[in-house]
This record gives sequence, C-alpha cells and structure tokens, in this order.
Amino acid sequence: LRRLFVCLVCLCVVMSAQGCGSIAGVSSGKRIIRISHAQSETHPEHLGLLKFKEYVEENLGDKYEVQIYPNEILGSAQKAIELTQTGAIDFVVAGTANLETFADVYEIFSMPYLFTSEEAYHETMNDTDYMEKIYESTDDAGFRVLTWYNAGTRSFYAKKPIYTPDDLKGLKIRVQQSPASVKMANAFGAAASPMSFGEVYTAIQQGVIDGAENNELALTNNKHGEVAKYYSYNKHQMVPDLLIGNLKFLNSLSDEEFQVFKEAARLSTEVEMEEWDTQVQEAKDIAQNQMGVEFIDVDVQQFKDKVAGVQEEMLESNENIRDLYDHIQEINKKYE
Ligand code: GCU
Repeated sequence: LRRLFVCLVCLCVVMSAQGCGSIAGVSSGKRIIRISHAQSETHPEHLGLLKFKEYVEENLGDKYEVQIYPNEILGSAQKAIELTQTGAIDFVVAGTANLETFADVYEIFSMPYLFTSEEAYHETMNDTDYMEKIYESTDDAGFRVLTWYNAGTRSFYAKKPIYTPDDLKGLKIRVQQSPASVKMANAFGAAASPMSFGEVYTAIQQGVIDGAENNELALTNNKHGEVAKYYSYNKHQMVPDLLIGNLKFLNSLSDEEFQVFKEAARLSTEVEMEEWDTQVQEAKDIAQNQMGVEFIDVDVQQFKDKVAGVQEEMLESNENIRDLYDHIQEINKKYE
C-alpha cells in the first residue's frame, strides 16, 4: 500500500512539474520548489528545511513556494536524487554515500575513521570555500550541493551485543547503497547488506539482517531501537548529509535570487546543527530508558586496528580523494 501511495505522489509531482496538472491547491501562479528527504517531520533536517522554506518565502514569497516532502514519500534517497537530476523535483537531502556513483570524490566519507574528532569534521564541512570545489563535482550529472547537514557519528547496532570486531564476524549488517560502504563493512568482518534506509526496520524485524550502522537518531526517530537492542560505540564514520539542488534550476536564478537560496541553505544548516546536538542527547535517553536499548562502550582502538589497511587501499584505488584526504589530515592534526 505504501508503495502505491509513493507511486501516486511521485506521479502527481512529476506531472505537475511537467505542467500536465497540479497538486491540489497550488495553482497560485507561484513556482513550487519541491524538496525530498528521508527523515520524519521532527528530525533536525526537517526543522532545518522549514527554516530554508521560511527564509526563501520571506524574501521571494511572491514568486516561490517551498514544499517539503519527508519520510521518503517521493522515494528512497537514490530515487529522489534521480528526480532531482531530471528536474522533476528541485532539491533532495541525501548522504554522501548516494553520490559516490556520480562523483567518486564522495567515496572519501565512507572511509572508516577519516575524521579523528567531531571538531575536525565540523571544521572541514564548515569550510565553505574549500567544500565548494567538491560540491561542483556533480555538475555534469545535473545537480549541485548547496550545503551540508550534520548526521553525527555512525556506529554498529544489532539484535546481539557487539563488544569486539570479532562479534561482527558473519553478522549481516545493512549498509548504505554504495560500493565504499560495502567495502567498509566487509573490512570489519561483517557481511554487508546494502539497502535503502526505509527498508531497514522491517529487515531487522524479520531477521533478514542482524543489524545496521548509523547515528543514535536511527534508534528513535526511525524506531530501529524497537528491533535492535544493542548499540556499540565503535564510531567508525562521520558521514554528512547534503542538500542537493537541480543545477538547471539553480542556474535559472538571478544573482540576487541565488544569494537568497544560498543564505536559506546556510541558515538551514545552522538550525539543523543546533537541533542535532539537542536531539542526540534526547535520543540516547529515550533509547535507553524507554526503548530498552543498551549502549555499549567498546575499545575503539580494536575496531580501528581491524580496518587499518582500508584508508591506504582506498587512496590507492581512487586518486580523486587524495586532495581532500590530505586537507582533512591537516585539520585532524589541529585537534589531536
Ligand atoms: C542517516 C542519514 C541519511 C542516510 C541514512 C542511511 O539517517 O542522515 O542521510 O540515508 O542514515 O543510513 O541510509
């Protein structure tokens, strides 16, 4: 039934984008800006996007109306990226893993233990001038990144407790649908099982997989804590989410309009990051005290040792990540 609903909504959106009809109540003559994302309406990203909408409409409200589609209603991240590519919708929020097949520089974020501190991660991503070069790397594919959102630190969680890398042996662990994510999980000794985010809950519940890896909000906001009761703080990745825009649309804006969208994006990140810190604290509390999830502090060094060769392997097989890698190492050093 959900699939049917998704198809119907997609059809409406695509048809109205092509001028063949319109979604109820939007024939006001304004250009409708559609943004798709995979999270719920209470998630920091949704709140950040509400700020984006507010700022755009405050400044250009006579011309644009922003509509936000949460919960993968328009399809999984990969599907929504395709819709953004063709211009059926205008923006999508997706993790870097989904962009690896469009620009392989994004593989770098799947590298285990790339950032050695949250400070280094934030500083790297907040260096807009540097990141702009990376963000342009998907221009050929027809879309460009406008800003990033914090998606915290990823760790493994499962139906069984994971204390050491040995406990991962043979476990079927869901990863994001990207070659580098698969490599990463396999290097830990797990059996990587790529699938879209929206499928993870049922897959764990039905025993198709043993667990997954993500930030703490996956336990609460996406309810995975109902079906996986052990979360191990091995902290293997900090992977940003990105706000991605259709390039034709962005290029069609006047300079002044473009600046409004850029500023809206910057403000949305500000809101999102503040919300993130608050909500992660709340998520830990809710997961532990209301959902019965056990948080396990593991010896992170053992996990680092297990995948010690992966960074070098990745650097050898993809020269496009070298610059960014060196840049991040410099930033890492500042906080060690
Ligand atoms: C996080 C992240 C999403 C990503 C998801 C996943 O929720 O914010 O962008 O898609 O993890 O693991 O698929």
